[in-house]
Amino acid sequence: MGRPRVLVNSNDTPQKGLDLLKTKCDLTIIPSPNPTREEILRVLPGHDAVFLAMHVNVNSEFLNVAGPTLKVVSAMSAGYDHLDVPEIKRRGIKVGHTPHVLTSSVADIAVMLLLNASRRAFEGRLLLTQGHTQSSPQWLLGVDVKGSTIGIVGFGNIGQAIAKRLKGFEISKIVYTGHSRKKAGDDLGAEFVSLDELLAQSDFVIAATPLTTETLQMFNDNTFSKMKNNAVFVNVGRGKVVDTGALVRALKNKTIFAAGLDVVDPEPLPSDHELLKLPNSEIIPHLGSATIDTRNSMSTTAAQNLLNALEGKPMIYPL
Ligand code: DGY
Repeated sequence: MGRPRVLVNSNDTPQKGLDLLKTKCDLTIIPSPNPTREEILRVLPGHDAVFLAMHVNVNSEFLNVAGPTLKVVSAMSAGYDHLDVPEIKRRGIKVGHTPHVLTSSVADIAVMLLLNASRRAFEGRLLLTQGHTQSSPQWLLGVDVKGSTIGIVGFGNIGQAIAKRLKGFEISKIVYTGHSRKKAGDDLGAEFVSLDELLAQSDFVIAATPLTTETLQMFNDNTFSKMKNNAVFVNVGRGKVVDTGALVRALKNKTIFAAGLDVVDPEPLPSDHELLKLPNSEIIPHLGSATIDTRNSMSTTAAQNLLNALEGKPMIYPL
């Protein structure tokens, strides 16, 4: 049997992962950093494995086009809402992702967004570029982290890493919500509460939850109305856990103080989108895992997942 054929869906994939794959496989690297679905489907048939450096929906259509040779789907991401995992597995195809290796970089960016949004960093810069340079005692006042209640929605690895970081900021308490109380929460001195309790108590509401049918648009007019007026909302999970229209209304009407967003819906956000015009929305373009070391680790982990699966060994992080 010849070497397995692997399709890599971005020519901007970190080299370390590609080097690992090349030791045992022949690679088809699509000559674009972020190809369209059509470009991917065109070259997909006949490959033994796909390495997803960029998100693409792997559903029945994708799998039908790939054909019977496809044995492995390896995503270079922790989140896997773009993969129809039950359908992939039903066809006997192995599927894996890269959790854990990005936990600290995503947690760091959550703290960055929380601080930037609460201290009005973007608004300040905007005013400077508009020539508003005079200061006065009550100009651009923000809200303090010290003494605050931090509410974390989704207390997985990333939620816990955010809690650990924020404990250093002299906060008053951490509450979290999710499916169940966790030992990690007890160890961190965090309190398990209902979503409604969390919304009512928290000065900072941080979404660190994956996108599922349960979390889809869980932040909406109703949930924003239950937050404090001084609340800062941070999202490092997925854009679709938020009803964007409701968030725009909450920011415009000052139902909440500000938002810090790494993920949005739609993504990418059109450059003329209303969210980008609001001074109290701090937005970055899905940079949570975008550090050199983290992306290298993601690419080598996804490559190792793929090689293991092709060799009949367990993936490091199977789905
Ligand atoms: C992830 O890995 O899920 C990050 O959001 C990057 O896609």
